[in-house]
Amino acid sequence: MPPSAIPEPGVRPSDFRFHCIDCSHWSDSASPDYRCPRCGDLLEISYPEWNESGMSSRASGVSANDLKSTWKQRRLSSAPADLSGVWRFRELLPALNDGHVVTLREGNTPLYEMPQCARIAGVPHLSAKHQGMNPTGSFKDAGMTVAASFAHHAGYRWIACASTGNTSASMAAYAARGGMRSLVLVPEGKISWSKLSQALDYGAVTCQLRTDFDGCLRLLQELVLRAPVHQLNSINPFRIEGQKTLAIELMEQMDWQLPDHIIVPGGNLGNSSAIGKALLEMRDLGLISRLPKLSVIQAEGANALVRTLREAGGKRLIGVNAETRATAIRIGNPASWKKAVRVLEATGGACEQVSEVEMAQAKAEIGAEGIGCEPASAVTLAGLKKLVKQGFVKAGESVVLILTGNLLKDPDFTIEFHRGDLFAGTPHESTMTALSTLRRPPIVLDATLDEVLRTLEQADKTAPSG
Ligand code: F0G
Repeated sequence: MPPSAIPEPGVRPSDFRFHCIDCSHWSDSASPDYRCPRCGDLLEISYPEWNESGMSSRASGVSANDLKSTWKQRRLSSAPADLSGVWRFRELLPALNDGHVVTLREGNTPLYEMPQCARIAGVPHLSAKHQGMNPTGSFKDAGMTVAASFAHHAGYRWIACASTGNTSASMAAYAARGGMRSLVLVPEGKISWSKLSQALDYGAVTCQLRTDFDGCLRLLQELVLRAPVHQLNSINPFRIEGQKTLAIELMEQMDWQLPDHIIVPGGNLGNSSAIGKALLEMRDLGLISRLPKLSVIQAEGANALVRTLREAGGKRLIGVNAETRATAIRIGNPASWKKAVRVLEATGGACEQVSEVEMAQAKAEIGAEGIGCEPASAVTLAGLKKLVKQGFVKAGESVVLILTGNLLKDPDFTIEFHRGDLFAGTPHESTMTALSTLRRPPIVLDATLDEVLRTLEQADKTAPSG
């Protein structure tokens, strides 16, 4: 299939460099594992011209206000890059030569008001930016369009990733659109069928490895040094650049009126790093005047960042053997922990953990609002409740939750929750009773009018108040 090439007039020549997050080494190119050649730490993409003379030299003299109006005007354009909710903000992305943009019209995700969840959490104003409304159903698409486009530009035939499911679905789709082959490494039995089925349909060579996500990622890191495959995990800093646009689009949707808090789930910690990078860059470029607090929530059973901050002051990673029903964030050794620690410190955000039951309850509450999300995303609401109780989120403050994946991405979890057997055989089994008012199990009936009418009457008596 030919690449989805977009002739994009006005794309500027390459103007970014790689910068090591630890030893600050600068380089113009990166090795296949995207590690610093000096100290082996992660690289990030930086724009030296911004530091020297602000935005003006990079964007031909345009101010923050000009940028805002350019981005708004592009909403009226039907050019493929402008229809992308990522490339529409291309002034804050690494520049790419014409003809290499691979897009599925990612981004452009809705920001929903959440009045019921706001009441439940005890905050006056709560909204959710739903990244699960991306083309392959998760926030990964925003990063993948940029990373896949640069892989296409570099002429790679194969792109590869380790994944808990969503990355693989997204990468496989963008590979197919860009005319590249894709190799997926996923933990056997630990990802949902809906994610696995996407990778298969999009044509990926899909390997289910007898290990966990961390094992898959380790193996991939070795593979890229031996085989001509290009790795598209969030260690790849182009992914982070694309995922930044989530925060830019959010600010634009809020008319540049900042929320007090942004809350995001944490797994491998690429997304929190990306959102934080975007906030800091937007502040440095004068697009926003202060920083919202960015907080990360993890599952108790996959709480490496929580422990790293509490037990090691954020100085060294405390890895864990991850175990949670939220398979998307079942990660014990998050690759981007150092980047995440920095953005939490820079924005003054918190890091919390929630139990499996708290997560399941929050997921049902988000669903009852008519929104829905996958289990990993629901940790945000569960975490918010805790942050309110602790007084970290104060009365009167506004909050945005980042919902990272679509409800349809893990139907097993949802169905087991409503049937009441989500935690069968686990220590949480008895707590499901407390959640019975949220459960709506399917009802099997004889196909008679009477049966359905009786069921309707009963349901009407027990209807939840709006
Ligand atoms: N939410 C969802 C739905 C995810 O799929 C992931 C990560 C996260 C949150 C955590 O984001 O890793 O940037 O901190 N999913 C991975 C994958 C790792 O392979 O799809 P993170």
